[in-house]
Amino acid sequence: MSGYPGLSGRTIVVTGAARGQGAAAALMLAGAGARVVATDVAAEPAADFSDTSVEYRRLDVANEGGWGDLAAFLRATLGGVPLKGLLNNAGITHRSRLGRIERSDWDRVLAVNVTGAMLGIQALAPLMGDGSSIVNVGSSAGLTGHYPAAYTTSKWALRGLTHVAATEYGPRGIRANIIHPGFIETEMTAGAPAAMRRSQLELTPLERLGQADEVAAVAAFLLSDAASYMSGAEIPVDGAFTSSAGAKYMADRIASEGAAAGS
Ligand SMILES: NC(=O)c1ccc[n+]([C@@H]2O[C@H](COP(=O)([O-])OP(=O)(O)OC[C@H]3O[C@@H](n4cnc5c(N)ncnc54)[C@H](O)[C@@H]3O)[C@@H](O)[C@H]2O)c1
Repeated sequence: MSGYPGLSGRTIVVTGAARGQGAAAALMLAGAGARVVATDVAAEPAADFSDTSVEYRRLDVANEGGWGDLAAFLRATLGGVPLKGLLNNAGITHRSRLGRIERSDWDRVLAVNVTGAMLGIQALAPLMGDGSSIVNVGSSAGLTGHYPAAYTTSKWALRGLTHVAATEYGPRGIRANIIHPGFIETEMTAGAPAAMRRSQLELTPLERLGQADEVAAVAAFLLSDAASYMSGAEIPVDGAFTSSAGAKYMADRIASEGAAAGS
């Protein structure tokens, strides 16, 4: 049996799935036997989905009409079986500080990261039923005061949306959870300032950065029936970065100064 029960033969929609964590999740879910509708604003996926049960469709999550088209396509192809899951993974970053963020960049980040997820839930929840699962991809930024103002604000908002969804759809047996990746090696973080990467390593108790598959595995678990009583949960996938909350930095300084003092 797969480590992700209840996915075999069921349909799951993943957004932002052309590359990175979304592509990793699509491939992992397909490996667990799911029919995966992988969507992205990109015309073609960078990931290789050939010889898998992944179907690729173009979708800009900020476009309400696109979600309507996807819902119609699913309604026509689900054959009356409820949609098993929605992984709201699409996201963009914009690393401007609060004093410098332009209104247009602020609006764009919130439109994709928050409104996109809301539109997806609104469009696809009617196709879901008892045992279906919504997973939103937040960020450790959504648990902290990380400096990119729009991005951090968007991920805090996504937490609120997750709790609302868990409350609203719980009576229908639909679960909603959010995962908070730390610094994961993808194209999004390839452009991060070197000091951000260095500091992240210094502040992460596991003393390494994360990989897309390590986030995908938690998403797949939450989408599966193994997580059947988990709803409204927030799960960091960050090597204890947020749990430590800077305490690692302090502990390391104390240890090195103690060593220097011979204690
Ligand atoms: N990489 C990290 O360290 C990290 C950390 C915390 C959270 N996250 C979150 O994880 C998710 C995936 O990030 P990633 O690292 O794989 O990034 P990525 O940039 O590699 O991939 C993001 C994907 O989203 C797509 N996308 C962008 N705008 C879209 C839109 N309007 N509609 C549909 N698709 C769109 C992109 O084309 C891309 O394929 C994002 O929500 C991101 O905020 C990433």
